[in-house]
Amino acid sequence: MNTKPHWENIYQSKAPTRVSWYQEHSRLSLEYISRTGVNKTDQIIDIGGGASTLVDDLLTNEYKHINVLDISAAALRAAQQRLGARAKEVTWIEADITQAQLPDQFYDVWHDRAVFHFLTQPEDRQRYVQAVRHAVKSGGHVIVATFASDGPDHCSGLEVVRYSEDSLHGEFGEEFKVVESKQETHHTPFGTEQKFIYCYCRKH
Ligand SMILES: C[S@@+](CC[C@H](N)C(=O)[O-])C[C@H]1O[C@@H](n2cnc3c(N)ncnc32)[C@H](O)[C@@H]1O
Repeated sequence: MNTKPHWENIYQSKAPTRVSWYQEHSRLSLEYISRTGVNKTDQIIDIGGGASTLVDDLLTNEYKHINVLDISAAALRAAQQRLGARAKEVTWIEADITQAQLPDQFYDVWHDRAVFHFLTQPEDRQRYVQAVRHAVKSGGHVIVATFASDGPDHCSGLEVVRYSEDSLHGEFGEEFKVVESKQETHHTPFGTEQKFIYCYCRKH
């Protein structure tokens, strides 16, 4: 399913701080990225990073090779405008992750908050996992956060798949070893709660 028009419309019509997934700081994502122990010069990619502030905090923490991929050009523009001159320090990739041509065995850290759960078709999930296998180095770190089993069944008007630690890990398979998983309750800007599951794995 081509959801690009949907996402362009969202980011053209709403302020980045007025979407349900907005976080002033992506605390748990930053905690996991810091825990990987990767060097500040290693390659980090944020899949479906959108207009997230994660990139701002990674720059502040002096990571030098940050890549942000998103299907929406408007989302990437919003992040670039917020960053101003610092945007030049980041690699921006406008692509659908189920179709993206990423470099082979390149990334040390793969981070995704609230993107994988939009892949409701098994073949799209297989393409995503194939992209992780292809683009993440052996021994690399994979942090994926989705709505939890007791989380919402829709987001931004689109159906999502909800996961437990086991079902999320099951999508990736034995090549990925779970380091830790954790539930988080996200407080939306509208005062509601959304349950997330974060799964941090290493690729073998
Ligand atoms: C719920 S938002 C989460 C944004 C960000 N990760 C965060 O936590 O703030 C989902 C993001 O995924 C992007 N997206 C949705 N489907 C995608 C796909 N197939 N490939 C790449 N990006 C996608 C959307 O444009 C949007 O920015």
